[in-house]
Amino acid sequence: MTTIIEPFRIKSVEPIRMTTREEREAALDKAGFNLFKVPARDVLIDLLTDSGTGAMSSEQWAGMMRGDESYAGARSFERFEAVLQEITGFAHILPTHQGRASERLLFEVIGGPGLVVPNNAHFDTTRANAEHSGCEAVDLPIAEAKDPSSRHPFKGNMNVPALEARIGKVGVERIPAVMITITNNRGGGQPVSLGNMRAVREVCDRHGLRLVLDACRFAENAWFIKLREPGQAHRTIPEIVREVFDLADGVTISAKKDGMVNIGGVLLLRDETLFQKASELLILTEGYVTYGGLAGRDLEAMAQGFQEVLDEDYLRYRVGQVAQLGAWLEEEGVPIVRPVGGHAVFIDGRLFFPDIPEDEFPAQAVCVELYKEGGVRAVEIGSNLIGRNPDTGENIRPAMDLCRLTIPRRVYSSEHLEHVVDAAKTVLDGQHSRSRGLAFLKEAQGIRHFASTFREL
Ligand code: F0G
Repeated sequence: MTTIIEPFRIKSVEPIRMTTREEREAALDKAGFNLFKVPARDVLIDLLTDSGTGAMSSEQWAGMMRGDESYAGARSFERFEAVLQEITGFAHILPTHQGRASERLLFEVIGGPGLVVPNNAHFDTTRANAEHSGCEAVDLPIAEAKDPSSRHPFKGNMNVPALEARIGKVGVERIPAVMITITNNRGGGQPVSLGNMRAVREVCDRHGLRLVLDACRFAENAWFIKLREPGQAHRTIPEIVREVFDLADGVTISAKKDGMVNIGGVLLLRDETLFQKASELLILTEGYVTYGGLAGRDLEAMAQGFQEVLDEDYLRYRVGQVAQLGAWLEEEGVPIVRPVGGHAVFIDGRLFFPDIPEDEFPAQAVCVELYKEGGVRAVEIGSNLIGRNPDTGENIRPAMDLCRLTIPRRVYSSEHLEHVVDAAKTVLDGQHSRSRGLAFLKEAQGIRHFASTFREL
């Protein structure tokens, strides 16, 4: 059998509302052509993020009812701790309310001014937390990561020679940890190979450095290793996952991704002293160590979600669905970044609207048109997001100007995604000669894409 089906049936449904093109145009106008400002009720298919937007299973909901809400030492914490110990092999497990809370704790205990953190590619919040502690956050991806036409199977890999060079330049004493983000979100969930992680571990061992994983999408990454890495096909997902965690001294996880929950996070640290410090900080700002700012029911949902995500039928469907969307778009001539990653498909804005000048935000124009045409909400990851050079005031030209279609877990059917493809094809066919994009009505400072507003040119 070649058809990849959803390995679940539907027990509870949430209606989504069809809108007319006129209603969507009015909503866009009101939102200043910024899709973050469009109310969710006016969105038909919401592909803004895969974070905290997934559907929970019946066992997760049953766990929610079993949640033990005792302040300290709850049964739900015991279950959560045991599951994470089993999967990761770490003895010390801290729950947090989401990924960035884990990152904040990590950098408060290991970060500081004058230090440098290399990573294959920091996610925005990881970079922000590293920098907030005074660290310099350095991205060291392989060259293929920046080439949209490269078909490298592990585009998320870290550039190991560049890491060696950076360690030589900066000095071991100024590097509190080397980080690897699995999968690399910035490329739409591009995986990191086991071979690459072993090589980075070897470099860390030689220099006596810590290795910390940002493991939000650890199961999707393991699926790619099983699928694409020579010699890995016969191994089970839990085996691969365990080997990956065994390489690390610390781990931050946003459980809103592969934890399959709407809220939650995890911090793992092997070192006893660091763990004690992080525990004290957790109590200071998040909550006691057996709930970390969450309810007991959230810990139950996480314990169940972290187990469900390891199921091969689930991962085949999950990664297969995202790949299918990419293949359909490509068949229709929509320019996308290849190979498709684990959780998102990127449309190349510059190729989609080749005549729209860079300063008029082609990828943002793609997002706007997808919403107008089909009520589909995507997010721009390109010239608008990246902002201006603080020295020159010029708009920065990112390597790629992209519109991200991010797929929530277990939420949309193939037909929903066919609708997305229809919308993209209709926009492409009808507007290929389009030559004008968008101009700022109000340009927000800092991260521009949440608050800025535009007008159409
Ligand atoms: N690390 C990675 C790789 C992420 O993708 C995210 C979140 C975080 C850390 C932070 O986790 O949101 O729970 O605090 N990514 C979301 C996204 C927001 O849309 O890609 P958080």
